Amino acid sequence: MIRTHNCGALRSTDIGKTVTLAGWINRRRDHGGVIFLDLRDRWGMTQLVVDAQVQKRLNRIDRVRPEYVVLAEGRVRKRPEGLENPRLQTGEVEVEVKEFRILSEAKLPPFELESTKETDEGLRLQYRYLDLRRSRMQHNLRFRHQVTRVIREYLSDLEFIEVETPFLTKSTPEGARDFLVPCRLAPRRFYALPQSPQLFKQILMVGGVDRYFQVVKCFRDEDLRADRQPEFTQVDIEMSFVEAGDVLTLVEGMISAVLEQALNQEAKVPFPRLSYHECLTRYGTDKPDLRIPLVMEDLTQLAVSEHASPLWPAKIPDDFMLSVLPLPGWKGFSRKVGDDLAALARHRGVALSWVRNEANEPSSPLKNKLSKQGWDTLTGHLQAKGNGIALVSWGNKEKVREFLGEQRKERGRELFGEPEGFSFCWVVDFPLFEWNEEERRWDSMHHPFTAPHPSDLERLETETPRVRAQSYDLVLNGFEVGGGSVRIYDPVVQEKIFRLLQLSEEEIQRKFGFFVESLQYGCPPHGGIALGLDRLVMALCGETSIREVIAFPKTQKGTCLLTGAPSPVEMEQLTPLGMRLKNET
Ligand code: AMO
Repeated sequence: MIRTHNCGALRSTDIGKTVTLAGWINRRRDHGGVIFLDLRDRWGMTQLVVDAQVQKRLNRIDRVRPEYVVLAEGRVRKRPEGLENPRLQTGEVEVEVKEFRILSEAKLPPFELESTKETDEGLRLQYRYLDLRRSRMQHNLRFRHQVTRVIREYLSDLEFIEVETPFLTKSTPEGARDFLVPCRLAPRRFYALPQSPQLFKQILMVGGVDRYFQVVKCFRDEDLRADRQPEFTQVDIEMSFVEAGDVLTLVEGMISAVLEQALNQEAKVPFPRLSYHECLTRYGTDKPDLRIPLVMEDLTQLAVSEHASPLWPAKIPDDFMLSVLPLPGWKGFSRKVGDDLAALARHRGVALSWVRNEANEPSSPLKNKLSKQGWDTLTGHLQAKGNGIALVSWGNKEKVREFLGEQRKERGRELFGEPEGFSFCWVVDFPLFEWNEEERRWDSMHHPFTAPHPSDLERLETETPRVRAQSYDLVLNGFEVGGGSVRIYDPVVQEKIFRLLQLSEEEIQRKFGFFVESLQYGCPPHGGIALGLDRLVMALCGETSIREVIAFPKTQKGTCLLTGAPSPVEMEQLTPLGMRLKNET
């Protein structure tokens, strides 16, 4: 070993020992002929003191600058009275340097490593090795490791086994584009990188593995956001002979273990279970942040009975919605704020007004546009929610939900401050299908292997939009951190679903023939889930971008600023693959 201790290890009990430390110079101060060097590594910081005598002997010490990597040998001594640093674990002691070696010199870093100012993210990603030395990334990576370790141990203790599945494979339908990999041994053919190990984990169940998990990279070519990367990590789980409730209970136990062991916190289990429909109606989204104590309410029936009102068409369209968002105690409201919000709503394609709900005399621009009965119903309803302003929005259902859902979050922050803590919930009873207007056909809302509710099986073909899926999403603080389902294990039902998705017999065979065939050789009932590890760690760390919990993430444009990937390739690399770039004819 080059060193005897790390930079976070020394305490007053070590006083008098001769030690060797190694690390990066964090800061250098020259004081009355003495040089003070803060030596840093992953574990902490130790103060080195080089007095004038020693400086004369160690001729290169003068050159030392921040980020140089050095080795120092010396004696641990107590810091002088009053000069202890309680913010450092090693703050009671310092090392009086006797021998010193520069192991590596360093150029001036392009940003200050110690600075608390936000550093340009482009620079951070380009010089990620410097950014990784900072305490934020050091903490986040350590925390990520801890979470992963708890998960691995939790599942292993329950007799799950980790099985690796291929990266060079066939397309798996998770709703994004595939990353394709050409194949030298089979020119003009391509592997697809897996969007998830979905089909393999189901085949592992047919193979009798029974309880599988994998901490696994997945690849999706889709538009990127703060919580999306083209390659990301799932904790992928599948179990045989289970129902939905078994999977939910397993995950609740696993999350409890993570909170307890990685954060020393207790999780409130079971997590609330909300239906998809209830989520959209009350929170305007299927990823509600339940820490915000504001709830929307669907008053579409009021509009239906007020069909003579000039506010909306006499014949209320099918996709119409009237919804209110009571905001008790909103002090920031004025007519001007109301007008600005109405203009913003108009811009987003919905109508917006407000009611000032006061005990004696509620007021609102809506008052004259509703019948007395309609007005009384509206205000009577709001009175039950307490005094204050209520936003009222109407128009296209999806747009109303989206707009009021955003207002709920924004006003929630204004009224109650930045929400704190962790709030998990399950969203269940998703529709099995969603309508794809562009292609005029049904798409699977989760994926085509999700089982319908047994009681909805009969209406698969007759009432397709009303068929509920046996699927579930796990939501944490407004982020979807997981999704899964009970799977179809009957090949006849699986074929029916493929046909409803308008896949031809030939397509079914070409894309999923191997899988459908496996279902015919004795498939157990099974179900599972995949947690987005990056998102889970991000939310538990209090970060708002998954890039903060990934060592080498890509930018929003999918580039790696450190390596310059994706980058051009040589013609010689393409030829054996049977490929040629279009403008190189
Ligand atoms: P799903 O597509 O819902 O399900 O993915 C599971 C979870 O993975 C995370 N996730 C992502 N994280 C970062 N960047 C991305 N681009 C990204 N896409 C998804 C989310 C999501 O909840 N095979 C199914 C699981 C199953 O049915 O068992 C699947 O992949 O947190």
